[in-house]
Formats: sequence, C-alpha cells, structure tokens
Amino acid sequence: MKLILLGPPGAGKGTQAKMLMDRYGIPQISTGDILRAAVKAGTPMGLRAKSFMDAGGLVPDEVVVGIVRERIQEDDCKAGFILDGFPRTVPQADALAEALTALGRPLDAVVSLAVDVEALVERLTGRRTCRDCGLGYHVTFAAPKAAGICDACGGELVQRDDDREETIRRRLDVYNEQTSPLIDYYRKSGLLSEVDGMLSMDAVQDEILAILRKE
Ligand code: AP5
Ligand code: ZN
Repeated sequence: MKLILLGPPGAGKGTQAKMLMDRYGIPQISTGDILRAAVKAGTPMGLRAKSFMDAGGLVPDEVVVGIVRERIQEDDCKAGFILDGFPRTVPQADALAEALTALGRPLDAVVSLAVDVEALVERLTGRRTCRDCGLGYHVTFAAPKAAGICDACGGELVQRDDDREETIRRRLDVYNEQTSPLIDYYRKSGLLSEVDGMLSMDAVQDEILAILRKE
C-alpha cells in the first residue's frame, strides 16, 4: 500500500498515519518529523530548514524531495508506505511521481482530509507531544491521564514551536496557496478520495480503511 495523506496542518494526517502504520505494518514517512529531528540534531539540513519552519513557511523543494527520494528506497518501504506532509507543492508531486515510476512502484491512493479552519486552530493550539517517546496528545480531544505527563513513559508533554496561533495562521495560508492545488492534481489522476476530517479519530480511520479495501 503506497498512500499519501493530504490535508491542512492539524487535519489529523499524523494521527491517522500512525494508526495505519500499526495496522498495515508499513512505515509513516513524515517530512515534518524528519525535519524536526534534523533541527534537534543540529545537522546542516536542520540548520537550513529551521528558519523556514519557525516562520510557518515551506522548506525548499529540493531539500524535502531529496529526503523522500532516499527514504522510499529503503528496505522497509518495499511493502509500502504512508506519506504524511509530502508532497506539499506541485513540483514535489511531480518529483515523487518520477521517483516512483523509476522504482516501478506507483501510488495506490491519495486521501484528502478536510477540516474547518477554526477546528484546525483548536487542534493545533491544544496539541502536545511527549518529549521522550514522541507520542501525540490533545489537551481536550486526547488528554493524558495526568496533565502534562505522558501516559506511556512519564515524559514531559511539550508544545511544538510552530503551534502558536500566529504561526498556525501563516501555515494555513501557505497550505491554501501552495498545497491545496494538489487536491485537483490528484483528482485529475483518478487517485483522490476525500474524507470528512471533522469526524472522530476512529471514524476517520474507518473511512480511510474502507477506501483502502477498495484498492
Ligand atoms: P508537518 O510536521 O508536516 O506539519 P503539518 O502539515 O502542519 O501538520 P501537522 O503535524 O501540524 O498536523 P497533522 O495533520 O499531522 O495533525 P495531527 O494528527 O498531529 O510540517 C511542519 C513544517 O515542516 C512545515 O510548516 C514546513 O515548514 C516543514 N515541512 C514539512 N514537510 C514539508 C514539505 N513536504 N515541504 C516543505 N516543507 C515541509 O493532529 C493535530 C491535533 O489534533 C492532535 O493534537 C490530535 O490529537 C488532534 N486530532 C487529530 N485528529 C482528530 C480528530 N479527528 N478529532 C479531534 N482531534 C483530532
Ligand atoms: Zn512518552
């Protein structure tokens, strides 16, 4: 199964990708997670990416295309993968198509998650992540048992630097300008399915599974 999860910041791409990863045993490829790890490690790529990410803008295409081109060739991607947060521009989508054609492994499906703007802002301002194990929470919709502490490992829950309201609004503008044209792009190629991302996490997962069963 080679799948793209498309949707604005906070639509639930990461949440759904992790659920699918557990079910299908295929990796989640999140360019956001890979870039944040590079920033944390202080690599040259991380240093280059940080200013774009902090401002809520996109990291240059050639950087993310390079990351994904290498990642999809790794052994654990042979059975498939879930792309989360990539592609985000038409040139990225073209580069992905070219790389997958060269590998002889075309995409199976593109699932687009639609969520209202105010719900996106509420989801992102309330998102928390475990500093130690990376598990995701929401202060209201997926709250930990004890406030600020990870249920799984006892680690501290932290907020992402770009989850401040001003940066969130900028990320949403960037999505509308640069990423939303991909909905039509994949509709034209016949790969697109649209899911109501306003539903509960489990209901969204059921909708996605129903789509994948048809593939
Ligand atoms: P990235 O990390 O990809 O962030 P994003 O696309 O903005 O997406 P998010 O991770 O914010 O949201 P999500 O859809 O995964 O939602 P989640 O499941 O966490 O990118 C960050 C930055 O990196 C970019 O701004 C850019 O600078 C750079 N970058 C990354 N990829 C790039 C690329 N390809 N090209 C260029 N630059 C790139 O859910 C959000 C919250 O809502 C959670 O708290 C969750 O618990 C809750 N929630 C989820 N689903 C539901 C539901 N159904 N009901 C209620 N709550 C829910
Ligand atoms: Zn944890």
